[in-house]
Amino acid sequence: MTNTSSNFQITGPRLYMDNAATSFPKPKAVHEAMMHFATQLGASPGRGAYAEAREAGRLMNLCRERLCQLIGADVSKPEQMIFTLNTTDGLNMAIRGIIGYAIANNITGEDKPHVITTWMDHNSVLRPFNALAANKDIEQTRIQCDPQTGLVDPDDIKQAIRPNTVLIAVVHGSNVTGTVQPIAQIGQIAKENDIPFLVDAAQTIGHMPVDIEQANIDLLAFPGHKGLLGPLGTGGLYIRPGIEKRMITAKEGGTGSVSEQDTQPAFMPDRFEPGSHNAIGIIGLSEGVKYILDKGIDQIWEHEQGLIRMMIEGVSEHVTMPGMTWYGPQSVKNRCGVFSFRVEGYDQPQTLSDALESRYGILTRSGVHCAPLAHQTFGTHDLGGMTRFSFGPFLSTQDVKYAADALGQVCLETQSAVK
Ligand code: ALA
Repeated sequence: MTNTSSNFQITGPRLYMDNAATSFPKPKAVHEAMMHFATQLGASPGRGAYAEAREAGRLMNLCRERLCQLIGADVSKPEQMIFTLNTTDGLNMAIRGIIGYAIANNITGEDKPHVITTWMDHNSVLRPFNALAANKDIEQTRIQCDPQTGLVDPDDIKQAIRPNTVLIAVVHGSNVTGTVQPIAQIGQIAKENDIPFLVDAAQTIGHMPVDIEQANIDLLAFPGHKGLLGPLGTGGLYIRPGIEKRMITAKEGGTGSVSEQDTQPAFMPDRFEPGSHNAIGIIGLSEGVKYILDKGIDQIWEHEQGLIRMMIEGVSEHVTMPGMTWYGPQSVKNRCGVFSFRVEGYDQPQTLSDALESRYGILTRSGVHCAPLAHQTFGTHDLGGMTRFSFGPFLSTQDVKYAADALGQVCLETQSAVK
């Protein structure tokens, strides 16, 4: 019989710096809420009229309201906040929803629907667009980004707009270099041209302010398990009221509502939420969002900026050394807490991650990070990528200094070995 209980145990220092993949640790309240659901409620929201199911539904709705509050959306319309499994799920829902509607209603006439994205985007945007293009359903323009910073020029996006452009999709913070794109300027361009604007906030939500009004965002896809400190398997797609009328559904099924009807309900959020929810995850996520609201996103961002400054200060001592390359914005401007490097002598970035783990207990992620065009932008695609450090709210400036010093030490030793 398989033993399902884990014997995993590890001794020595562990410094988790892979928050761009998923955040760790989570606030205690997240685990407590999930345990409460698992042991006291257990019921599926909207799938029964008894007290436990009603309470689970109330808690889930509270999570929608908290998410709306965090992104500056109308809290009186929580139904516009759709729960997803992760960012990829939300991005697919948005992309396939908008394109499917454009095709079904022939809104671009003789021309195929056209979309705009950037080279810094993740495979969660590139792959759905490429799949649609391979099926000859769309035309796409991918805007190249600055090879030093990874920044896109909003004017390039403006120039790429055609009469048949139906969607602009942009990653807010790069999961490779931490580059933060000028989404407010891009959102303004999208608004002036009445083109839905989709933002992938996988690396920024919960870390820094993300305001849908300030950036004119129509569709915001985000993870619940990264900056929002919820469990894996949670995420969301915020749909600006009215935009859902320009989308088809990508999935249909039971909603627990209008069960006598054999077609998907038109009302929100049921229209985009077929199937039983990940209620235990969402109820945990709600506490992660509450943690952020209680602390204040400005406060959290100030703390993360302190970590960013410390990393910059720490690596600046070493970055002039031959052999270390640091990619992306080289100051606090236009960046979030994601830093990537290559060190000569560690031609395969994973060997640098291995050295950081075995010698210093620092956990990083190496490779191409599901962002092949971003790595092409920096010339690291065919070199096996980079080694990435990514921050979260529970790290201290001392932790970051320790990591920067460890990186410097590894680099120094490699250089002396080379000599
Ligand atoms: N996209 C996530 C990362 O960069 C999973 O690690």
